[in-house]
Amino acid sequence: MPGRGLAHEIVRRGAPGASRRRGALSSLGGMALHYQDSAAEIHRFVVGPYDNNVFVLRCRETGEALLVDAANEHELLLEACVALDVRSVVETHGHSDHIQAVPALRDAGYEVAVAPEDAAMLPSYDLVLDDDAVLAVGRLRLRTIRTPGHTPGSMCFALEGSPVLFSGDTLFPGGAGNTATELGDFSTILASIDRRLYAVLAPETLVLPGHGADTTIGAERPHLDEWAARGW
Ligand SMILES: [Fe+2]
Repeated sequence: MPGRGLAHEIVRRGAPGASRRRGALSSLGGMALHYQDSAAEIHRFVVGPYDNNVFVLRCRETGEALLVDAANEHELLLEACVALDVRSVVETHGHSDHIQAVPALRDAGYEVAVAPEDAAMLPSYDLVLDDDAVLAVGRLRLRTIRTPGHTPGSMCFALEGSPVLFSGDTLFPGGAGNTATELGDFSTILASIDRRLYAVLAPETLVLPGHGADTTIGAERPHLDEWAARGW
């Protein structure tokens, strides 16, 4: 099971000691370190009018990093990219609130990757992401998981060796992402969650959504039938 035996801790905003660990980032909107274990650290920035979570996954051994969702507030994100040695950007999906900083980051030389089904929703991009591909972030390995439903090209990213999933707008505390949209499909998102997330991820897997608070696979898995019955 991913992450079993790896000591990990969640460092929340204002947690004791966090300022000492990431003092250099104090100009970037306060304490950004959100999670760390022996191999990886994850920084979170909440940006834009929809309070989008932007995560920076960083290899503790090499210092190289990847940014998940160039959502908004590009000046802040560009500062974070420099401070955290970000090498590239992946998008969880193409909805407008998740992509506002894509042009500025591409202009600064960061390559942006997105699933092919959502690529046309971006103003521009560099690479398309295959399903079940492995992205190298220093020594870290991040696996792509195609999870259509919120959008046709929604994608989650699972960190190998650490109990962490970036779920975009596919899985939140208390339910699936919104599918009451032009390209959304409720039965498709439930199937994605059931077959691609619940079937393969350990209960302790920390789920980091595109907005709001974290949850775990174990906390959400028992409720899939309730979500199906209520229809959202
Ligand atoms: Fe979305």
